[in-house]
Amino acid sequence: MPSRSSEIINMPDTSACAHLLRPNGKQINALCPSSFDDRASGPDTFANHKLEYGRKLNNSSEIYRLPADEEELDRLNKQQKMFIEIMGKYPPCLPGILQDDVPGEPKACLDLGCGSGAWIMELARDYPSSLALGIDLAPKQSTTMPDNCSVEVDDINLGLEHFYGKFNVVHAQLISSGIKNYEKLVDDISCVLRPAGLMHILEFDFHVYDHMPDGAHRRCDLDTSDIAGPWFARWMIFANMAIRKAGGHPDAATHLRRWTAEHPDLGDVVSHDYWIPVSPHSTFNVFQRHIGVQMREDVTSFLKSGRPLLLGNGVSEQIVDELQRNAEHELRTAALPQYIRVQSVYCRKKVY
Ligand SMILES: C[S@@+](CC[C@H](N)C(=O)[O-])C[C@H]1O[C@@H](n2cnc3c(N)ncnc32)[C@H](O)[C@@H]1O
Repeated sequence: MPSRSSEIINMPDTSACAHLLRPNGKQINALCPSSFDDRASGPDTFANHKLEYGRKLNNSSEIYRLPADEEELDRLNKQQKMFIEIMGKYPPCLPGILQDDVPGEPKACLDLGCGSGAWIMELARDYPSSLALGIDLAPKQSTTMPDNCSVEVDDINLGLEHFYGKFNVVHAQLISSGIKNYEKLVDDISCVLRPAGLMHILEFDFHVYDHMPDGAHRRCDLDTSDIAGPWFARWMIFANMAIRKAGGHPDAATHLRRWTAEHPDLGDVVSHDYWIPVSPHSTFNVFQRHIGVQMREDVTSFLKSGRPLLLGNGVSEQIVDELQRNAEHELRTAALPQYIRVQSVYCRKKVY
């Protein structure tokens, strides 16, 4: 049974927040100010790293196999800006939920798998009277972290019981590759939420899509027995298999709506598919091409980030190189009108 690693990296100095964020049995060490001071600056102050295939990976989970280094965090920061352009910042009900309407009882928001912290820090700045917490296997310590925001080292797969009933908003974005059982996570989140709280999840399914002549999207159903084009779609199938083999849940996006809609304590479910072009193909409209340029940069960097995942799962270096080289060319030349699908689901905890 793995032990929980729960260590607060930046803790706002307010007793209300400290009380709110205490993990069971961990509060004394976790709130010790020196743990903040020791990690105060610089990219090399991440906890728990190991070096694999030239990239820094978290050292506490064998499941999540994407890097946790500056290059990856830079990709995530840019990706977050692009997501805001495509989807907006928050679900429409979020401002009402985080309204500072009960004196002495600040609203609280949790970001699961916060990565670079781009989302949770932005939320903390937008809602300065709320308390914001990000947790991650290897969260980024930022020198510009708002006072009402903190990040904590934690493995979501070990359960979220220490947070039950403590948050008004729970957000999770693109973490499925590190989650053993996503349906259980949805149930955990339902317990973490206060009554009428908001859950917002965004995931993609590690597949590539094209479209039919009538415009309907169609999944590129490929397998790993062939090493042939379409190359980015082929690379994605290898990534999907590697994540599954490592114990992650790559197709969670496909089931999110059902899991939330069928959950007895969750209601008002709203779901939406965002079809994000992976390159500026000539048949795309102006906005799609604009996004396609940004997404191409993101995906090209993602191909590099995925090397430890594929190589660590026994795919030969020769095959990884061939897949990556051809996928990069396919993207650079915007050869195919392809998309990834990001599934967004948000819902409220029922009030009884
Ligand atoms: C692809 S990144 C996305 C980061 C951020 N949510 C975003 O959208 O920019 C996935 C993040 O989830 C974290 N993660 C994955 N599995 C996790 C787990 N079991 N517990 C905590 N964090 C996890 C990783 O460390 C990584 O920072």
